[in-house]
Amino acid sequence: MSEQKALVLESKQGRFVVSTRPKPTSVPAGELLVKIKASALNPADWKVQDFGPAYIEKYPAVLGSDIAGDVETVGEGVTGFSKGDRVLCQSFFVNNEYAGFQQYTLVPAEIVAKIPENLSYSQAASVPLGLTTASVGLFSNEPTGLGLDPSFDLNVKHSGPVLVIGASTSVGQFSIQLLRLVKLSPIIAYASAHQFDYLKSLGATEFIDRKQVSFSDLPAAVKKITSEPIKLVYDAFSSAESEQAGYDILADGGTIIVTTGDQIKNKVDGKKVLDVLGSVHPPTNREFGKAQYRNLTKYLQDGTIVPNRTEELPNGLAGIPDGLERLKNNQVSGIKLISLPQETA
Ligand SMILES: NC(=O)c1ccc[n+]([C@@H]2O[C@H](COP(=O)([O-])OP(=O)(O)OC[C@H]3O[C@@H](n4cnc5c(N)ncnc54)[C@H](OP(=O)(O)O)[C@@H]3O)[C@@H](O)[C@H]2O)c1
Repeated sequence: MSEQKALVLESKQGRFVVSTRPKPTSVPAGELLVKIKASALNPADWKVQDFGPAYIEKYPAVLGSDIAGDVETVGEGVTGFSKGDRVLCQSFFVNNEYAGFQQYTLVPAEIVAKIPENLSYSQAASVPLGLTTASVGLFSNEPTGLGLDPSFDLNVKHSGPVLVIGASTSVGQFSIQLLRLVKLSPIIAYASAHQFDYLKSLGATEFIDRKQVSFSDLPAAVKKITSEPIKLVYDAFSSAESEQAGYDILADGGTIIVTTGDQIKNKVDGKKVLDVLGSVHPPTNREFGKAQYRNLTKYLQDGTIVPNRTEELPNGLAGIPDGLERLKNNQVSGIKLISLPQETA
């Protein structure tokens, strides 16, 4: 049997180790087998190790949500892809065969996009999860999202101010871009000051320094920027404190999108909390995901959507645990950490 290298989480709340596991020998109809050239690290990866969530039913488990690579095998019935195509997609770590921290993965072809020539594999791998968490929350229809642009064709125009908390997170960076593309304005970014110039290049128009303004002072700081009612807050950071601050800022009828579950304690009638699931794999988000991936190559090629800035880690898959430690310890600012699985010793 053909084998591949993988980074596996040995047991619930256990250790990550580089190991070998079977490389899929057959590809289901409608799917692709992809040779992974770049795999992005995400907070979910260290959180799964720390908390051992119930949705991971089998160990050893392979994690990793974002990949870019080359099509190795094309499943029956797939059109539009050939062996050797450079592609990006969201991997799905609830099933080891579909996860990202290994050298080969399966993925349904309908949620894959070709990588345009102007993007490296690492840049491409920085896109799927961050973009999808922003896009499902903002663009997809209720109940999964706010419905700002369900067909993802960017021909819509909305108005009004919006606040992005955790604006320099990967999810925050994509949220700013999508909000700019559907013409919401002003876009107020709450982030560290050293990120302001970069966030401005993505579309943010007003800035609040998170090191100077605490969450409890955030509502007053936003009021100084605009007297217009705030009908939308995207909280890409999402702690109990940040969500409460975002909720308190909302005007009547407004919505806050949160990324780590609804932790808001003090609620009133007339404000909505949308707890986003940033995945295009489940049936609830699949149609939206298909629309997103249909247009994605073009948007990345012409710069309509730009990837995150990236840092490539050494030592292939073995470099991931140190990278996750940096994410967990809040030592990464505005950059996506990338592993190169084919460089695993
Ligand atoms: N629901 C879902 O499906 C889903 C999907 C993806 C992610 N998530 C969650 O969404 C969150 C963001 O994920 P990510 O990958 O985008 O994060 P990330 O890029 O790894 O986040 C790093 C950033 O966090 C920012 N940060 C740290 N402390 C902050 C604070 N007190 N206030 C505001 N920003 C702060 C830092 O900002 P500065 O550099 O400006 O200091 C840094 O740039 C995570 O909790 C993740 O687990 C959920």
